[in-house]
Amino acid sequence: MLAGKFIVFEGIDGAGKTTQMQLLAEFLHNNDIPVLCTREPGGTQIGGRLREVLLDRSCHNMSHRTEAFLYAADRAQHVAEIVRPALNSGVTVLCDRFIYSTVAYQGWGRGMEIALLQQINELATDGLLPDAVVLLDIPVLVGLRRVLKHRSPDRLEVEQQAFFQRVREGYLEQAARLPKIFRVLRGDGAVEMVHRNILKTLSDL
Ligand SMILES: Nc1ncnc2c1ncn2[C@@H]1O[C@H](COP(=O)(O)OP(=O)(O)O)[C@@H](O)[C@H]1O
Ligand SMILES: [Mg+2]
Repeated sequence: MLAGKFIVFEGIDGAGKTTQMQLLAEFLHNNDIPVLCTREPGGTQIGGRLREVLLDRSCHNMSHRTEAFLYAADRAQHVAEIVRPALNSGVTVLCDRFIYSTVAYQGWGRGMEIALLQQINELATDGLLPDAVVLLDIPVLVGLRRVLKHRSPDRLEVEQQAFFQRVREGYLEQAARLPKIFRVLRGDGAVEMVHRNILKTLSDL
């Protein structure tokens, strides 16, 4: 029996990851392919606790390294408890964010050393890599407007745009370096069109 495929969705906030993951899951389900949707951070009970710390406003003094290790701890648990067992039993796993988010946000966004992050990632995943990464690429402002429900960004949100611009570039750079697994798609078309493009780009799997 063919083992399940591991498909990761990446992209900045508002790119359409959650929306498209859901549509792909429905498609696979309708075609009798067993599928599991999960996300990082927070795909496990332990991960949920770590996520609370990561998102807690009172933890504003968290060092960048601490943040990287907390995400890695979540990932280690998530891979061991959810992803590997599902893949081993033949289930296709769709995962909202994975190691490429760490490199894009902590590395390109925050300026942490990328080689260090890659080392931490490899320890956390025990070397597990996806069969494909769907990178939904979208202009920062379009993503921001979607997240803000079409309200225009305020001054602080505008300042954040430079950060998300670096994150976007970090994703594209990883895609260029790993062309065998990355599938870069425009995320700013209509939902149905993006869905069709995802099916097309994954047809070889
Ligand atoms: N192709 C699209 N066109 C317009 N709006 C979209 C599209 N895809 C998603 N949205 C909307 O944009 C918002 C963010 O989408 P979501 O799937 O949650 O993105 P992400 O998970 O990448 O942050 C949601 O309100 C969603 O309904
Ligand atoms: Mg989402």
